[in-house]
Amino acid sequence: MVTIKSNSEINKMKKAGYINYLTHEEIKSKLNVGMSTNELNEIADNFIRKHGAIPSSLNFQGYPKSICVSVNDEVVHGIPSDRIIKDGDVVSIDLTVRFDGYESDSARTYIVGNASKEVKDLVENTEKSLYEGLSKVRDGVRLSEIGLAIENFAHSKGLSVVRELVGHGIGKNMHEAPDVPNYYTETDVILKEGMTICVEPMLNLGTKDIYIEDDLWTIKTKDGKQSAHFEHTIVVTKNSYEILTGE
Ligand code: MF3
Ligand code: CO
Ligand code: CO
Repeated sequence: MVTIKSNSEINKMKKAGYINYLTHEEIKSKLNVGMSTNELNEIADNFIRKHGAIPSSLNFQGYPKSICVSVNDEVVHGIPSDRIIKDGDVVSIDLTVRFDGYESDSARTYIVGNASKEVKDLVENTEKSLYEGLSKVRDGVRLSEIGLAIENFAHSKGLSVVRELVGHGIGKNMHEAPDVPNYYTETDVILKEGMTICVEPMLNLGTKDIYIEDDLWTIKTKDGKQSAHFEHTIVVTKNSYEILTGE
């Protein structure tokens, strides 16, 4: 069931979203060549708890760490480890932060050090595709407009769209109805003012096809080429949307 949030619920989600944003800023300020992905996990875990919030990915369906860190050909759900970040790595950070009973979910991708133009364009265009999708959002619009806009933009840039993983509603739970695909689908869902959703394109340089690693979490591209991921939690407004995981 797709729910409409009250103003007081949206205010709680804004607080969760702001801590999520601040945690991303903290990670951005520390991210560097030579660090392990575990160190990023510790920085985020400490920062989130210091703000009285909970890193809700920890123990979510058995997930073993507080954040997801996905490097290069890892699309999403990379598990922090003693893996060292190298020059030119594409590092996606996905954070879920719970505060006062409400969730927030946001992802960003960084290039650490130097990378080819192709890889820089991948990251830049994946972020742009998120805003292309969001530009369709307003009360009364069909949900499929978001995915169609993302898919058209990605293809115009020669990038492929991961299909197995999609955005989602969010609120008291990290994952709520509706699904928010990054490609066109037939759907009856009409966006309404007060709906809170996560839009999260995952775009690949090469094939759209993915597989799951032996750890049963990490999703990787089949051809080993890089992938990027951007995500915001938003609330639908009468004429547009408001980002809850921003400044
Ligand atoms: N943040 C992810 C999403 O965008 C969910 C991560 S669940 C975890 O939906 F368990 F892998 F952390
Ligand atoms: Co996420
Ligand atoms: Co999400």
